[in-house]
Amino acid sequence: MEPAAWDYYAGAAGDERTLADNVEALGRLKLVPRVLVDVSRVDTSTTVLGEPLSMPIMLAPTAFNKLAHPEGEAAAARAAAGAGTLMVASTIATCTLEEIASAAPGPRWFQLYIYKDRAITAELVARAEAAGYRAIVLTVDTPLLGRRERDARNNFMLPPGIGIANFAGLRDRLDATGWPPGSSFSAYVHNLFDASVTWEALDWLRASTTLPVVLKGVLSPDDAMRAVEAGAAGVIVSNHGGRQLDGAIASIDALPAVAEAVGGRIEVLMDGGIRRGADVIKALALGARAVLIGRPYLWGLAANGEQGVRHVLDILRGELELAMALAGRPTPADIDRSAIAARSAGEHGGPGALSR
Ligand code: FNR
Ligand code: LAC
Repeated sequence: MEPAAWDYYAGAAGDERTLADNVEALGRLKLVPRVLVDVSRVDTSTTVLGEPLSMPIMLAPTAFNKLAHPEGEAAAARAAAGAGTLMVASTIATCTLEEIASAAPGPRWFQLYIYKDRAITAELVARAEAAGYRAIVLTVDTPLLGRRERDARNNFMLPPGIGIANFAGLRDRLDATGWPPGSSFSAYVHNLFDASVTWEALDWLRASTTLPVVLKGVLSPDDAMRAVEAGAAGVIVSNHGGRQLDGAIASIDALPAVAEAVGGRIEVLMDGGIRRGADVIKALALGARAVLIGRPYLWGLAANGEQGVRHVLDILRGELELAMALAGRPTPADIDRSAIAARSAGEHGGPGALSR
């Protein structure tokens, strides 16, 4: 990959501490296997918002996939469909949401940013509905872009020939200062994303679509409860892969308190730091119905396009099946908090860390 593109994918905000902690926090959790359980047949299948999935692993929304491979998000969509799982397509993809939808059959969700121009935002939602997307994922942790110092040093911008496909032809309607040639991506976000968004936007969005709305970027149990009361269909516990507020709690550390606050009333998903099948067990044990992967699929896309993404998904599936068997948990329903060792009171961990 081009070094600047690699930095955009691999990088995160500030000192990249939350990026690292997402992985380290998962490593701090220890699994407690059960024995003498019939694991001759392990079944990873599950449902998310009623959608049957072959496994509790989905593709997270990630921007600018054509920086990794010329087929971009369409290749990722084909891989997700082939693996029997679900892709969340980013608003700022380098394929149009319609191209992504026509690239592959099967369920897909649309990730939405609220633009200052609400009319354009509403048009995106209408287009997603018309293209058969099954849910809207409203990303709520990006009122402004995190401090991406690698991108600043690289003056990161999209190379010629690669654009934010959903807005092609809308340049005249987007804020004139939207993203003039030579401006940075953070300038784009600063100029076009609506930093004044409040919970009102969820009411507006729910009135604008019949699709279920999932909030992505929730780390606070209080916000999770607010999401339930405001009619969200689900929340994704996420710190945006460490790319927003550096120093934010690791996703896996925030998960237990969010799951407890939600109390099963809506579905809880989680992303951030998932790199192994065993990581998926830890997330399910702490209350996630499924996880999403970002960077891992991008590496597969860069390595070998659709086949590369499919290979990543197949590796994770194989690791998950083996880990479930060795943990004595043959189905996702068998994975509960008993799969995770309680932490001693003084041991490091987020507010929701087990302290039994
Ligand atoms: C992202 N993420 C992201 N999230 C979102 O809601 N809309 C987006 O357009 C993007 N774009 C994006 C680009 C890149 C290069 C990365 C790495 C991430 C965040 C993404 O959905 C997810 O929250 C994290 O990637 C999960 O962490 P891991 O799996 O990358 O560790
Ligand atoms: C990012 C934005 C696009 O993380 O979500 O780069």
